[in-house]
Amino acid sequence: MTSWTPASIPDLTGKTAIVTGANSGIGLPTALELARHGAHVIVAARNPGKGEEAVASILRAVPGARVEYGRLDLADLDSVRRFAEGVTELDLLVNNAGIAMVPRQLTQDGFELQFGTNHLGHYALTGLLLPLLAVRPAARVVTVSSDAYSAGRIDFDDLGLERRYNRIAAYARSKLANMLFGLELQRRAAEAGMDLKSMVVHPGMAATGIVKLGPLMPLTKLFLKPAAVGAVPSLYAATSPDVRGGEFIGPKGKLLRTAEVGRSEELAARLWEVSADLTGVRFQQFAGN
Ligand SMILES: NC(=O)c1ccc[n+]([C@@H]2O[C@H](COP(=O)([O-])OP(=O)(O)OC[C@H]3O[C@@H](n4cnc5c(N)ncnc54)[C@H](OP(=O)(O)O)[C@@H]3O)[C@@H](O)[C@H]2O)c1
Repeated sequence: MTSWTPASIPDLTGKTAIVTGANSGIGLPTALELARHGAHVIVAARNPGKGEEAVASILRAVPGARVEYGRLDLADLDSVRRFAEGVTELDLLVNNAGIAMVPRQLTQDGFELQFGTNHLGHYALTGLLLPLLAVRPAARVVTVSSDAYSAGRIDFDDLGLERRYNRIAAYARSKLANMLFGLELQRRAAEAGMDLKSMVVHPGMAATGIVKLGPLMPLTKLFLKPAAVGAVPSLYAATSPDVRGGEFIGPKGKLLRTAEVGRSEELAARLWEVSADLTGVRFQQFAGN
């Protein structure tokens, strides 16, 4: 689907959407386009000043848009719970926020920061919001991964890479977890007979805060796309009528093939159970979880 642009987004009036990390980067144009097409958008961000500024910038671009700020720190499960408690209706969740290749740090709950923020925070958020998604027709969850997922490995005996921390390996692990989670969510929702589609996206290389170019990579800059272009796969997954659920969607809304490690149902099921144990969040709509 290479000709798709955000101008193709259908009218979203009556739909409520949450975009995590919507204060900057890819998340901001994602929230903006959803609001432009009539959705009620909750800008979920950890920093209130940045969140309110994002809301103001969307209102400047789309006067009269239904957009509000909600405080969400994915690296703190109490914050995730408080945020979810404040949401009353939801049709679309875009699990977009992320950090990349940071030195070893821990979340409030003691998890390695990249795995804790990018995967566990979004796992918990989705589970806590699932009851709201379950009562809406044609609900969707979009999880932003990266093509870096294919280099990821999950060692359940050392999830936090405590033995030998490597920031690139930790990022790849967290993005593989995003992929496994998004595809497993689709399988579980279908099994439970829910009217919910779950898609995983790769935004391409976009010029955002997450991309830190070292002095050896000046040429890489030339290949970076604007953040709004990076938002296209998320917007396509979130709104296109052609999406069936379970796809991995890349730049321009193109379908990508998922590498074997990302398609492993065994790995996905194990990750799901471990994530449930670590976060204490069980998806009530799914049998046995
Ligand atoms: N840009 C690319 O080339 C690229 C490529 C592949 C995948 N991705 C993925 O795209 C997604 C969006 O990244 P981006 O490129 O837009 O980077 P970005 O500009 O750095 O945006 C990341 C967003 O996540 C938020 N965030 C970080 N930690 C958070 C936390 N604990 N709780 C809540 N929000 C948090 C950040 O908030 P603050 O402003 O407060 O830090 C920011 O709004 C990420 O999942 C990333 O892995 C990006």
